[in-house]
Amino acid sequence: MPAASSGADRDAVSRVEAAPIMSVRGSVYPSLAATDWPALYADIDSCRACALGASRHCAVPGTGAQGARWLLVGEAPGAEEDRQGLPFVGNAGALLDSMLHAVGLNRERDVYITNVLKCRPPGNRNPEPEEVACCQPFLARQIALVRPSLIVLMGRFAAQALLGTEASIGSLRGRVHSLDLAGLKLSAVVTYHPAYLLRNLPDKAKAWQDWLLARRTMQAFGEGSEN
Ligand code: URA
Repeated sequence: MPAASSGADRDAVSRVEAAPIMSVRGSVYPSLAATDWPALYADIDSCRACALGASRHCAVPGTGAQGARWLLVGEAPGAEEDRQGLPFVGNAGALLDSMLHAVGLNRERDVYITNVLKCRPPGNRNPEPEEVACCQPFLARQIALVRPSLIVLMGRFAAQALLGTEASIGSLRGRVHSLDLAGLKLSAVVTYHPAYLLRNLPDKAKAWQDWLLARRTMQAFGEGSEN
């Protein structure tokens, strides 16, 4: 699996070693390393590792093609996602769908979509660090099962969870990050969260540049939008 693109993108590659995602992996679910998709979804569904398991209506594991070359990571389910058990089905999801469509991707066929948190934080508040830590084994296992060529990190919680940095989206976007997650070499592009874009329309142009970078990166890997 390629870790970086060629040409202009190669200059923009940054190396981010030892992201913290794997560090908690064994502590909450020691057996997750061998978990297949049905068992993983069942684990997520029955999870009570943090308080969100009690307040949610539905757990929201993820959706899309489980063998997709593109993995999209958002923050946490909102009210509509909590109702339906599916990620990005509210207003932010509609915007995400139109951005995917614009780069030639279909949410069921070409990408797998998930969130840092699998349960809705009450009132859509920000995820707490302990909640992120509790959910990290699930995200880690999803990444290991999908084995994507490219991860699109949407928003600061996704970027923080996988790049292990507090840096701003503005400083992380515009380049291809190279991750080494427990031996899996992965590339990632950071962009604004669709919900943020709904409130900050001028930044849509920057997000569009990010999606074009993601598409160029995949094309450099020999994997067009068509997958
Ligand atoms: N925002 C997210 O980060 N994820 C969703 O699934 C919906 C809104």
